[in-house]
Amino acid sequence: MARIGIFFGSTTGKTRKVAKLIKKRFDDETMADPKNINKTSADELAAYDFLIFGTPTMGEGQLPGLSADCEEESWEEALLRLSDVDFNGKTVAIYGLGDQETYPNEFVDGIMELHDFVSERGGTLVGAWPTDGYTFNTSQSVVDDQFVGLALDLDTQSNLTDARLDAWLKLIAPDFKLPL
Ligand SMILES: Cc1cc2nc3c(=O)[nH]c(=O)nc-3n(C[C@H](O)[C@H](O)[C@H](O)COP(=O)(O)O)c2cc1C
Repeated sequence: MARIGIFFGSTTGKTRKVAKLIKKRFDDETMADPKNINKTSADELAAYDFLIFGTPTMGEGQLPGLSADCEEESWEEALLRLSDVDFNGKTVAIYGLGDQETYPNEFVDGIMELHDFVSERGGTLVGAWPTDGYTFNTSQSVVDDQFVGLALDLDTQSNLTDARLDAWLKLIAPDFKLPL
């Protein structure tokens, strides 16, 4: 089994695409193929000590799922199913997609919901990311001037995605024991 699990929710495929971009950088022993969180069981998730979670922010600053008017179940419903997973001893990094021009008051809010879910269950969160280079008013995902995970905007800054991914993966490499 691969050392690192990577799980995403996605409505139009952008967060899935980023998961694939991340996986492409690593071999199969290091990282599993990305899996949609709506098809993931608690046992499957609990099998990994190293996890990367990806989510878009939907609705008004919400995780994707039926409450945010998404067509399919996603993180919202998955978190109920996964609520008994013990994250003690697990290292988790989160990336989140959003659109800072259309949603400047709830930019990538969903990152914080996943962050809280993991931290409330004992997990170690890594991969906080500077807010420099983004233009928005407020985000629930900012603490001490940093996003609590990697913020990506494929709607208005897609040209920055690769460089941001490279830098963020280098940042989390020591915690994830990544060969970078
Ligand atoms: C109905 C709708 C609501 C959205 N709400 C937010 C939001 O509150 N905050 C934000 O940063 N982005 C918001 N977005 C932008 C998405 O997060 C962004 O387009 C993302 O890349 C979609 O990723 P996906 O293709 O993986 O679903 C919203 C997009 C849509 C269509």
